[in-house]
Amino acid sequence: MGRDWTILDYHEATKHHFHRYARSAGYMDWQNQPQPFRFFEGAKMVRLPLPDDIPDLPYADLYAAVPAAHRALNLHTLGDFFYHSLAISAWKSAGGSRWALRVHPSSGNLHPTECYLIAPAVDGLAGGVYHYNALGHALARRIDLPAEICSAWRDHFSGDGFGLALSTIFWRESWKYGERAFRYCLLDAGHAAAAIAIAARLNGWQAHCLSGAGDRQIAEILGFDRTVWHSLESEWPEMIFWISAVPQASAIPRTLPEHLVRPLATLPVSGRPEPLSRKPNPWPIIPRAAAATEKEPTSALVFDPMPQSDSCPGSGSRRASDVIRNRRSAVSYDPDKHIAADTFFAILERTLPRAARSPFEAGLPGPAVHLLLFVHRVEDISPGLYFLARSASPDTVSQWRPRCRPGFSWQPVRPDFPLFLLQSADMSYDAMAVSCHQEIAGHGAFAVAMVAPLTATVAERPFMYRHLHWECGMIGQMLYLEAEAHGIRGTGIGCFFDDAVADLMGITDGSLNSLYHFTIGHPVEDRRITTLPAYHHLHAT
Ligand SMILES: Cc1cc2nc3c(=O)[nH]c(=O)nc-3n(C[C@H](O)[C@H](O)[C@H](O)COP(=O)(O)O)c2cc1C
Repeated sequence: MGRDWTILDYHEATKHHFHRYARSAGYMDWQNQPQPFRFFEGAKMVRLPLPDDIPDLPYADLYAAVPAAHRALNLHTLGDFFYHSLAISAWKSAGGSRWALRVHPSSGNLHPTECYLIAPAVDGLAGGVYHYNALGHALARRIDLPAEICSAWRDHFSGDGFGLALSTIFWRESWKYGERAFRYCLLDAGHAAAAIAIAARLNGWQAHCLSGAGDRQIAEILGFDRTVWHSLESEWPEMIFWISAVPQASAIPRTLPEHLVRPLATLPVSGRPEPLSRKPNPWPIIPRAAAATEKEPTSALVFDPMPQSDSCPGSGSRRASDVIRNRRSAVSYDPDKHIAADTFFAILERTLPRAARSPFEAGLPGPAVHLLLFVHRVEDISPGLYFLARSASPDTVSQWRPRCRPGFSWQPVRPDFPLFLLQSADMSYDAMAVSCHQEIAGHGAFAVAMVAPLTATVAERPFMYRHLHWECGMIGQMLYLEAEAHGIRGTGIGCFFDDAVADLMGITDGSLNSLYHFTIGHPVEDRRITTLPAYHHLHAT
């Protein structure tokens, strides 16, 4: 009798190999390109104000153990929150085409992640479930929420705040990337989660992941089960947060009791989704992977942070708002430029899940992801392969060392910092080779492979497949922001040869898998591309 198909089968089937890429259409079907913005026909739209008094918070203060002075929850501060998390950040144009960039990045700029607000009545906004529309910087009202439901949520979470949920439209990503798209959607959702947690901090608010919530609960709250979706264009629930808008004296419950969900599950939903494509193509392995990783309601999942530390102080002279909204991917790097060692350590420090530090304090389960670093051009640091242990456990090195190449030195680089030199060597060729031969991985200051014990983590809890990728996306978002804060740039890399990374480490038993790559360095600007302001199209109407 054959064993059941699992998410590990999906993972295996969607690996890129040197001799064969994962299955995709293999060409760009431009006639069918999905719309990047979701509209619900018939749903009432509420415009969010564009900011007029952005908090003057220094970037470094986003990571303080205690949030900045909190701003009252109203239409203006909600507008600022979205403006700094999921809004359009600029328009680009070249060769007769024009496309929008957003505060959060997305593989191929396809933006499969959607966002919903479960909001109490505030000045200018009736209580309801709203979809955030980034094109119009507006909220589409999908469900009216009676005051007693809002009060029940407020009481459960001890004070002012709102619920916020992310969902995914797989077709937006599979249109280009085929079967591997499920992974990219999860990475993108992780980027969006970190963007949300950081934007909350700008208002002095705090994001709390409701890790005990089940997918069915999220779908019922958002009315997905009562929505008539176009074929292959439905949305899948990803995660849900409570964003507290007041200082919290005690821990926020991380579960969603049925008495909060059930009253919403029968409320009528307004607005019919507009079609995204003329004729979407099925990629049956993707809904299968989604079903294999579905999450039931559970108790809260454990987040085990690393202790607080000030061994690598971060940079903080720029305004938080400027760093967040100017984040961009580099398309090529200057191979003649180095970065300072202090910059290198400050960037790495922010990827660590320290206690009481955004965005990881949002409390997604883990950490389980470590960083394999290909260091190319960092002053005073020898080029080579390094390992950053992102874990509170002192046993991480002793756990992984026996499984890796016997020749690795595992030499600590600096006291009180969990970075270990594996081998000194020029790794630029290897970094490019494992990252689908992309030059960006070898021409920057350093490149990263995010590695995790995939098989062990998903064995009992297949839904952790999604969490591992979300964690990688959150790390990626930190790398982007830190690069921007230090006057350099980063680029996420979803295209990599999976098994080549394990081979490089000498891991032969499949116990450690690479899930996402990244690169950072001095960017080379593409001067053929013109930039336009984010919301010039709204001013024109
Ligand atoms: C999950 C993910 C995977 C990505 N993979 C690649 C990649 O393999 N190669 C590349 O050049 N850029 C890659 N990117 C960068 C995107 O193309 C970029 O984020 C997108 O075009 C939007 O541009 P922006 O980041 O400047 O907003 C990736 C981004 C993400 C979030």
